[in-house]
Amino acid sequence: MKAFHIQATTGLDGLVMKDLPEPRPGPGQVLVRVRARSVNFRDIRILNGLYPVPARLGVVALSDGAGEVVEVGSGVTQLAVGDRVMGIYFPQWLEGRFAMRLAAEQFGCTRDGMLAPLIAVEESALVKVPPHLTFEEAATLPCAAVTAWSALVGPRPILPGEAVLTVGSGGVALFGLQFAKLFGAQVIAITSSEDKVARLTQLGAGAVVNSSATPEWSSVVREMTNGRGVDHVLETGGLGTLPRSIAATAEEGMVNVVAALDSGAIDVKTFRNPIIMRRTYVGSRANFERMNRAICANALRPVIDRSFAFSDAREALEYSNARGHFGKIVINDD
Ligand SMILES: NC(=O)c1ccc[n+]([C@@H]2O[C@H](COP(=O)([O-])OP(=O)(O)OC[C@H]3O[C@@H](n4cnc5c(N)ncnc54)[C@H](OP(=O)(O)O)[C@@H]3O)[C@@H](O)[C@H]2O)c1
Repeated sequence: MKAFHIQATTGLDGLVMKDLPEPRPGPGQVLVRVRARSVNFRDIRILNGLYPVPARLGVVALSDGAGEVVEVGSGVTQLAVGDRVMGIYFPQWLEGRFAMRLAAEQFGCTRDGMLAPLIAVEESALVKVPPHLTFEEAATLPCAAVTAWSALVGPRPILPGEAVLTVGSGGVALFGLQFAKLFGAQVIAITSSEDKVARLTQLGAGAVVNSSATPEWSSVVREMTNGRGVDHVLETGGLGTLPRSIAATAEEGMVNVVAALDSGAIDVKTFRNPIIMRRTYVGSRANFERMNRAICANALRPVIDRSFAFSDAREALEYSNARGHFGKIVINDD
């Protein structure tokens, strides 16, 4: 089969199409015909050699994908041929609290991922696709949607009427906006792109601030909450936005630090504001299942910016790396 593997971690050129043997399902595994995948910033970081878990050279790329079961290995009890499934982000994190050791195993990093026509996966590392979603839509969920969901329902769960701040208009931010609305929260979105303001409003943001036009946006966000600050932040911007996100947060509000943080420093005075900070790592299989129930109950549909053909996978990653997109980028079959 033709698949894209990670040949080197020195840039996007390290993503190379290659003929690989078709996988076979072992005991407890099923064979999935992958029908769609989505790109995450982490896939770009892996190829750039920046991801904290180093990739095993030669693995098939990408964490996120959806497809249908075409063969069932011995001992499989929960899945059958024809089931529509998605992979989970950390194949070993089924439920409970996160532990760093669980991050050692990841699709498209330390084991073969979704940028192939076929993948063999243990049934515990798959969840069923919500019936109303297409394969394309389902392929957007495993990383970005589960991250946004797990952040909002984590140790300080979101409550109706609370104010939520989302940063940017990537996958995590838009799922966060959509989920926060399900909980009856007020969403304030910041974006660095003027042309995305109207689209964020259309998606349900009660207020949108252009951070390029208003560099001191934390005080504007505070004013929008009558001086109180927001109760939750989905901090996907990184060190460039984190201090202002903290400044925009209410006392004992939760700042979910989602963004990749590679290096840099933060002024300790930032922490005079009495907030709660949490570093998030996607979420467990149990989080994914609960999120799917909410997606089904509300007929929620992911926002897809653009779809690419399988052979154009590298273009899809380059497009994502340009950071001009709104929502998710999908890679279909040719
Ligand atoms: N910890 C975890 O579990 C976890 C899980 C998923 C993702 N992440 C991290 O969270 C971040 C967002 O992920 P994503 O998949 O939603 O990203 P994404 O789809 O690539 O979206 C990033 C968005 O951020 C804005 N942006 C533009 N330039 C930027 C820059 N130089 N730096 C930061 N943001 C910029 C853009 O929105 P505007 O044009 O509207 O400003 C862009 O659409 C990434 O750092 C990713 O690695 C972490």
